[in-house]
Amino acid sequence: MKSKFYVTTPIYYVTAKPHLGSLYSTLLADVAARWHKLQGINTFFLTGTDEHGQKIAQAAAHAGKSPQEFVDGFIDAYKDMWHKYEIEYSHFVRTTDPGHVKAVQEWIRMLMASGDIYKGHYTGYYCTPCETYVTGVEGKEPPCDSCGRPTQEIAEESYFFKLSAYQDKLLEFYEKQKDFVIPSERLNEVISFVKGGLRDLSISRTTVKWGIPFPDDEDHVVYVWADALNNYITAIGYGNEARQEEFATWWPADLQILGKDIVRFHAVYWPAFLMATGLPIPEHLLVHGWIKINAQKMSKSLGNVVDPQLLLDEYGSDAVRYYLTRYMAITQDSEFSTQDLERRINSDLANDLGNLLNRVIALAKKRDMYEITPPENWNPKSLELRDQFWTTLEKYSTSMEGAYYSRALATLFKYIHEVNAYFHASEPWKLKDAQEFEEVISAACHSLYGIAMLLQPVMPNKMEQLLKSLGVAFELGANYLEELDGNPWKRTFLLHAQEPLFKKYELKKEEPPKEKKSSMSEIVIDDVAKVYQCIGTIEKAEHIEGSDKLLKL
Ligand code: MSP
Repeated sequence: MKSKFYVTTPIYYVTAKPHLGSLYSTLLADVAARWHKLQGINTFFLTGTDEHGQKIAQAAAHAGKSPQEFVDGFIDAYKDMWHKYEIEYSHFVRTTDPGHVKAVQEWIRMLMASGDIYKGHYTGYYCTPCETYVTGVEGKEPPCDSCGRPTQEIAEESYFFKLSAYQDKLLEFYEKQKDFVIPSERLNEVISFVKGGLRDLSISRTTVKWGIPFPDDEDHVVYVWADALNNYITAIGYGNEARQEEFATWWPADLQILGKDIVRFHAVYWPAFLMATGLPIPEHLLVHGWIKINAQKMSKSLGNVVDPQLLLDEYGSDAVRYYLTRYMAITQDSEFSTQDLERRINSDLANDLGNLLNRVIALAKKRDMYEITPPENWNPKSLELRDQFWTTLEKYSTSMEGAYYSRALATLFKYIHEVNAYFHASEPWKLKDAQEFEEVISAACHSLYGIAMLLQPVMPNKMEQLLKSLGVAFELGANYLEELDGNPWKRTFLLHAQEPLFKKYELKKEEPPKEKKSSMSEIVIDDVAKVYQCIGTIEKAEHIEGSDKLLKL
């Protein structure tokens, strides 16, 4: 078992309020952090903002503000949004924090002394929205290889980081730490980029003024990525004598979360910087795909962003947290739509989970049973359900440990179907014998208890409410996974009727698409990847009210 867990999000460019894409990276980190806290593991979760560079300076000038005033104006919007979504970060770092600035300057001095940074001249192209250097033939501006937008030619004196010296070391490292990048397929792109040859990286600018002053050379500021990547170490005390112990506790990071657009910075430049610094490299990078709207990346510059506040007002934080974690698969880009969100809330949360809880409590209440004690001996059907829980727990834990959260949730919801099937097949409403009746209720309560514990990292509020309905108080600190694993089901539950966990939505009839979508292959692959496949025997088929085509199997 891990002795500590350190997870980070990318730090966000503060040119606007957070959008659904920023929420997504941050939410994944929160789920990871809560999953480790659930096991009683000492956890540190870092997020924050990337506040320097040309892009921010331009946006500030456009708004008629100084860069500092401009970025200061967004910080509360980030912090508030994270709080509203129950995101429990340990520290919010800002690259304008004096401690960060000082540590980055010391870092540069150290690398100058070791010869890893030297002065030269840069001629090439620059993409401001991505804050990245782009190579191309002289005189012919290439489009940015990350976002495809036009680049500008720049020619200026610059300090360089000797990236080329790390090419072989990086390749050796990827070979050794094969699971460095999750999903592993994304490492292949990184390896071919590095094999293609690494040029030294320009890490200072003279034509940009908004940045960390380059130490001992006032004409330069530090390149925004060399500044920003270091947040992961400066925030936990790197470069600060008084915080050495703290730094030693947390570094290296166990999981760094980022979108696929910034994988090169994290999987190539960042490990090379760390090698030059003499520090260990993080255990894993979790690289997720993009949230798309009508097949386009959702982004501030495209103007198609979804405001997380509107989703919060309409659906509440837990339902949105569940939907993003379950249905935005890490391995690929995922299409976001509120129609799909409502459909999943209705089917997974209100029907499969919420109704199960309501039915259990309502049935028990009908017979004036509030204290539910376990039977001396469980019958084979209940034991089977318990075994299914243990198997689910194992699979769920494996997926969560591997950071495949959507897979973990698919496994858990399969178990929720099994509990529903058990409940339905046991027909407790027909059972005359009080003990037999109580056994079915008790088995369902034990299952719901386990489900609530496992879902706690994803839906902390609703699962607390569920546990309250079962009379269980939840407090972090213990290792709940250990407690669930092999637990013989000997709990007594005190049932309390509560408000339904999730409300249902009136689904709008979907219009058939007017135009053929542009890329058929993309649609087919995305849709197939969302399908949960299994093999079974159909025992019953019922009509679904309001539909003339659908059957419930
Ligand atoms: N400031 C840099 C990161 C520096 S980390 C040392 C940056 N900032 S960003 O605000 O542009 O993006 C931050 C994160 O949000 C990235 O991981 C990016 O992939 C993610 N998202 C932004 N739009 C997104 C979607 N539409 N979908 C999913 N995530 C995307 O890059």
